[in-house]
Amino acid sequence: MMFSHNIIKNRILVVGANGMLGLRTIDFFSKKQNVQLLGCSIEENPLYKDVDYISCDISKRENIKKIISDFYPDFIINAAAYTNVDKSETERELAWKINVKGVEYLAESARNIDAHLIHISSDYIFDGKNGPYHENEKPNPLGYYGRTKLASENALRISGAMNTILRTNVLYGLAAQSRPDFVRWVIQTVGDKKPVRIVTDQINNPTFIDDLVQAISIVIEFRKVGIFNIGGQEFLSRFDFTSIIADYFNLDKGLIIPILTVELHQPAKRPLKSGLITLKAQTEIGYKPCSIIESLSKMKRELSL
Ligand SMILES: NC(=O)c1ccc[n+]([C@@H]2O[C@H](COP(=O)([O-])OP(=O)(O)OC[C@H]3O[C@@H](n4cnc5c(N)ncnc54)[C@H](OP(=O)(O)O)[C@@H]3O)[C@@H](O)[C@H]2O)c1
Repeated sequence: MMFSHNIIKNRILVVGANGMLGLRTIDFFSKKQNVQLLGCSIEENPLYKDVDYISCDISKRENIKKIISDFYPDFIINAAAYTNVDKSETERELAWKINVKGVEYLAESARNIDAHLIHISSDYIFDGKNGPYHENEKPNPLGYYGRTKLASENALRISGAMNTILRTNVLYGLAAQSRPDFVRWVIQTVGDKKPVRIVTDQINNPTFIDDLVQAISIVIEFRKVGIFNIGGQEFLSRFDFTSIIADYFNLDKGLIIPILTVELHQPAKRPLKSGLITLKAQTEIGYKPCSIIESLSKMKRELSL
């Protein structure tokens, strides 16, 4: 007997397509045959050139509503955010408009067409007194950025839209055209023989960006809903993370100067003992983060170092 197979395409809208995660997500899905992709971000032009793109400010309700009803996506990945943690303390109205109202508008439009909204949140919703954290622990953000991210989660959960919240921390990895991530910044700065001051008292599990993209892809494949922590295998201080990077890329570790977070005098307080336990994602969606060494070796290969 002969069967004819129609390839069913998932229509995926990536919001925040010009950001670090957005770029890597676009790069990943653009190589998939069964995906119809549209990127959108606030800038007029796309950084990733070979994919359909539309400029859009998610804090403009009618703007985002029209794009979503025109494209009619099955999935919306929200990688857009106001991500400047310190500036969020003073630019409160803007941070709220993008991180909370923007998510409300995306959720409203998603609900209208039964689209599934995948939203990225942060460990900054926690106070870092008693981490690492499970999904169901009580949030208590220290700064305004964390408050907006928590409010975005709450807005989404009551929206009635089908949704998945992926909480992550300290994203690193490569994304073409993107600003350098923490690893590339260390390679460049220490490689140029410049000292770097790195905190010893902020502990978390840095997340390889490809692992987060992998998690997004599984969520889409199995239409998983709910909250999932997405982080790396190892829990360690930023100083120890930097030392591993220096060892791996043969950099002068003497240039890495240990300091405490208070010495940075940053406007926003940081959660210190943080990190995200990924057991739920591992057992329920088969999430498999790679080790730091594995991720660094992937980056090295891609950078041809
Ligand atoms: N990076 C991390 O370590 C980390 C850790 C935990 C959670 N997260 C979360 O992960 C997500 C992705 O982070 P990322 O590091 O990829 O951020 P990113 O590089 O700062 O990208 C965010 C993107 O959103 C765009 N954007 C800002 N306002 C917008 C608006 N009104 N309408 C449309 N687009 C807008 C930004 O454009 P402009 O640059 O022009 O403003 C930028 O391209 C965010 O939700 C963030 O909160 C990140």
